[in-house]
Amino acid sequence: MKGSYLLTTLVIALMVFSCNQKTDEGYSMQKKVFGDYDGKEVVLITLKNSEGNTLKLTNYGATIVWIEVPDRDGNMENITFGYETLDEYTNGDPYFGSVVGRYANRIAKGKFILDDIEYNLAINNGMNTLHGGPGGWHSVVWDYEITDNEENIPSVIFRYHSPDMEEGYPGNMVIEVTYQWTDNNEIIIDYNCSTDKKTVLNITNHAYFNLKGAGNGDILDHEVTILASQFTPVDQDLIPFGENIAVEGTPFDFTQSHIVGERIEEDNEQLVLGGGYDHNFVLDNVEEVDAIVYEPKSGRMMEMITDQPGVQLYCGNFLDGTEAGHGGKVYEHRGGLCLETQHFPDSPNQSAFPSSVVEPGSPFKSRTVYRFSVK
Ligand code: GAL
Repeated sequence: MKGSYLLTTLVIALMVFSCNQKTDEGYSMQKKVFGDYDGKEVVLITLKNSEGNTLKLTNYGATIVWIEVPDRDGNMENITFGYETLDEYTNGDPYFGSVVGRYANRIAKGKFILDDIEYNLAINNGMNTLHGGPGGWHSVVWDYEITDNEENIPSVIFRYHSPDMEEGYPGNMVIEVTYQWTDNNEIIIDYNCSTDKKTVLNITNHAYFNLKGAGNGDILDHEVTILASQFTPVDQDLIPFGENIAVEGTPFDFTQSHIVGERIEEDNEQLVLGGGYDHNFVLDNVEEVDAIVYEPKSGRMMEMITDQPGVQLYCGNFLDGTEAGHGGKVYEHRGGLCLETQHFPDSPNQSAFPSSVVEPGSPFKSRTVYRFSVK
């Protein structure tokens, strides 16, 4: 009796974890079935580093589902928004933790001209295109490879082939997004994208962070530093009107640390248009670290490092308390903040902005790091 019980348990365990590696180095990589979408299997992958901290990912949208790191007293908490079921990901649309592309952020009127050809994109944000369109890369099933590479760092490589004219963008694009989860509690994200035709690209990750724990209130008490002397102000559709403006003397000056809530309600035209902070900062790219988020009660700190020219500080202004994630916890208005590393919004239509054009034979390569620690 006991033997058959053990056997059944073993079989179930094998079915659930089709891959379960615990290595001598102390880290582990597991996957289990998360569901089925578009005729493809979706998995939930759990990476544990040797410090015992956890990063969970799914190949639906190449998404970060869970980041569990300690506070200064060693209490563990998941600090990013995510859902427990695949259905919630496929039904919802807040881009929790997903990769966003082919063009993250907005393209005015959903059109642009490249080499005298006008391309018309799928529209999904008023008159404009947001985050690649309704069928963007956040909503597709990616291939995946779980690996601990040569350096024994638990990692996942996600791959996707975006066909020519998908959502209106020219060129077949092959996209590779690699997440490494280091013992230093860094998520290292590498993007590698190549095309067979001239196209535009803006790829990012849309994770929401709340360093007190996802669903534990708002982020107005988080201290933020962004090494950006300028930002790109927007119109009523949140599209930059083409000018970089100095942050000095404005509520957008985060070159010294400020609590998010300190100035977010100021009577400032840009804050009113954004419903709070929802703007692209022009990174100075002078120091190793480009942005720091610190939450004083837990002592958790996140450093962000990127080679991209901009970062969107989005403070969850569109969240209205109707979304609940892990453990049924409600993600309230301004319950999380995003630091989306990027090219500037609407660059395909704005010649003064750094070019977002990718050409055949010159793959786009980029790295962003989110590093977690306590202070
Ligand atoms: C952000 C964007 C916001 C909003 C959000 C998704 O990247 O800046 O305006 O669209 O995504 O709800």
